[in-house]
Amino acid sequence: MKERLEALRSEALDKLQTVADAVALNDLRVHYLGKKGQLTEILRGMGSLSAEERPIIGQVGNEVRAAIEAVIAEKQTGFEQAETARRLQAETIDVTLPGKAVGAGAIHPLNKIVEEIEDIFIGMGYTVAEGPEVETDFFNFEALNLPKNHPARDMQDSFYITDEILLRTQTSPVQIRTMKAANGRTPVKVICPGKVYRRDDDDATHSFMFHQIEGLVIGPNIRMSDLKGTLLQFVQEMYGPQMQIRLRPSFFPFTEPSAEVDVTCAQCGGSGCRMCKHTGWIEILGCGMVHPKVLEYGGYDPNEVTGFAFGMGVERIALLKYGIDDIRHFYANDTKFLSQFAKI
Ligand code: DAH
Repeated sequence: MKERLEALRSEALDKLQTVADAVALNDLRVHYLGKKGQLTEILRGMGSLSAEERPIIGQVGNEVRAAIEAVIAEKQTGFEQAETARRLQAETIDVTLPGKAVGAGAIHPLNKIVEEIEDIFIGMGYTVAEGPEVETDFFNFEALNLPKNHPARDMQDSFYITDEILLRTQTSPVQIRTMKAANGRTPVKVICPGKVYRRDDDDATHSFMFHQIEGLVIGPNIRMSDLKGTLLQFVQEMYGPQMQIRLRPSFFPFTEPSAEVDVTCAQCGGSGCRMCKHTGWIEILGCGMVHPKVLEYGGYDPNEVTGFAFGMGVERIALLKYGIDDIRHFYANDTKFLSQFAKI
């Protein structure tokens, strides 16, 4: 039995000398030392030994096991070190290579326009007010002199949530909220930027959601000429000092008189081109003197104060300013489009 153990040892140590990799090494370990391995197999015969022989053979068995284990451990360490060396070699990082730049975000062109417009009006003493996008029928229509069944409601096809609650179709309801909050005090000078919603089919110039900026001024003796002067100042700061405006009579239920404002066509400078349909003018906003009924809804006495209001579409202002032909570009989140405005 002793000879078999010695033979096993030299066979195992021989094989271990030439073992090629960690997998083969493990196979050898199982083959010689495993529960059903060669060593166990031999030692199973110990039962038939005499009481004197048993400890001697047991001792030899332990020595053989220890000798094989020692070589396996040594080989194992060798393979691990080789593997580490291989990975260090393969995964070398050249720290001198230039890094990949992380693309920084930029402000969306529409938000930029809103900020620009805000800045211009803040410079004229206005403050910025905001109102909810989910609005009541009262603030969105009724208090703006648009009673239920008023035909002018058809101009703004609405997303109703209940009979009395809808997504606001315009920023004009913020006028009423601002007046109520002012509690009869004057002057009021606010602009109100925000999202509005209409049941329009999306195309190059329409979107179910777009942005408006509302303006409202209330005080004693506010006149139409104040409105005109304010808008001219705004347009010249926004588009350049060479720009002119013209007011055309129009109708809005919440203003009387009402006007639509055109600005010199930036494309042709007023000489006429395709963009302005050869008129030299481009419409940019609606405005007028606040209707007495609206003043009353806001808590003011129309015999004591007057006011003007205006409302413009931010997308339209942006299209004109940047010469873009399709409003949908603003919502597509195409970074190729958006990044053009990062540096403007
Ligand atoms: N709310 C109007 C619209 O969405 C725009 C507007 C016109 C606002 C005249 C005003 C105004 O404040 O006076 O079509």
